[in-house]
Amino acid sequence: MADISLDAIDFRNVDEGAMYQHIEGFFTNFLIWWKLSNSFPLPSHFVKANKIVISGMGGSAQAGTIAKDLLFGEAKVTVELVRDYHLPAYVDRNTLVIAISYSGTTEETLNTFIEAYSKGAMLLGIGTGGQMAALARKYKVPYFEHDYEAQPRAALHVHLASMLNFMSRLGHVTISNEMLGRVNELETYMRAHWVETIPEGNNEAKQLARKMLNHVPVVIGDGVLCGVAGRYKSHFNENAKSMAYYELLPEMNHNALVGSERPVKSPEWLHLLLLDSKYTDEQNKTRMVLTEQLFKDRKFKVTRQQFSSSSPLEEVLLAVSFGDYVSYYLALLNQVDPTAVNVIAQFKSKLSHE
Ligand code: PA5
Repeated sequence: MADISLDAIDFRNVDEGAMYQHIEGFFTNFLIWWKLSNSFPLPSHFVKANKIVISGMGGSAQAGTIAKDLLFGEAKVTVELVRDYHLPAYVDRNTLVIAISYSGTTEETLNTFIEAYSKGAMLLGIGTGGQMAALARKYKVPYFEHDYEAQPRAALHVHLASMLNFMSRLGHVTISNEMLGRVNELETYMRAHWVETIPEGNNEAKQLARKMLNHVPVVIGDGVLCGVAGRYKSHFNENAKSMAYYELLPEMNHNALVGSERPVKSPEWLHLLLLDSKYTDEQNKTRMVLTEQLFKDRKFKVTRQQFSSSSPLEEVLLAVSFGDYVSYYLALLNQVDPTAVNVIAQFKSKLSHE
């Protein structure tokens, strides 16, 4: 197959579902949905919650994993993420359960919503409606309903902005006006570096996508970029239709390092993408450098990616945007529609008929 030029391709022909507009609009939409979330009334007793459980699956869970990383250094309450049918046994009247489902129909998330209500937990739903909205009305609990039309993973800005807005209003994380003001600068940076009009020679996102072509991406997350590493993995799966995996530092230094001995034949099929966070322990920064070297010595393909930022929020948002572009360009190189995920719907339908 001839090499595809990412500069000359008419991407609208491949991108039938218009995924590009969501990727390009990420920062603007994050700010829009932050403002819209400001006026959503939160019950005053939510401030008393001493445990927070976020429930969601797939694209909808990503706001939870990323928010959890951002809350880690600040929140004085337990924050847990559930991606399954059941809530932990400790969930009680003093627990705030936030269930996110874009469609409002995902059976695992709905089950936790019902469980949370039966345990008397404080309950909040986020999504576009569906059965969860109906249940919220029945239970008389708050439901943040939005109408952003996209695949669930492309609505991350709505779910993340609203989640962080609520967490900040409840005192679990600080998101200052100055931090929000800087989001416009991230947008400027993105437009100068990663958008489709920037030629591949100067466009790091296009360059990385090309390096990933015909490789299995293994994303290594660190510090506040652990949840983001999971999003990269999912985006390589869903946008680029490629198998991909992720690992977390420092944990992977205690097992995957040994695994790097094999495959002996063709280790270069795996491309390790190390997301190097500024917001992590100093020892983890050293681990990142040593890990890069070790995998290079073992002939794996390796890229270490850093993001210039002045707060964890900025680093996370910038890293999300970069990964969205890389997976998008990889989809174009793979000549697949970045939006379509038909097999997920088919699988859900099979399950409901069992
Ligand atoms: O990307 C996807 O379409 C999936 O990962 C969904 O987000 C997942 O199946 C959950 O669906 P929903 O987000 O509607 O709850």
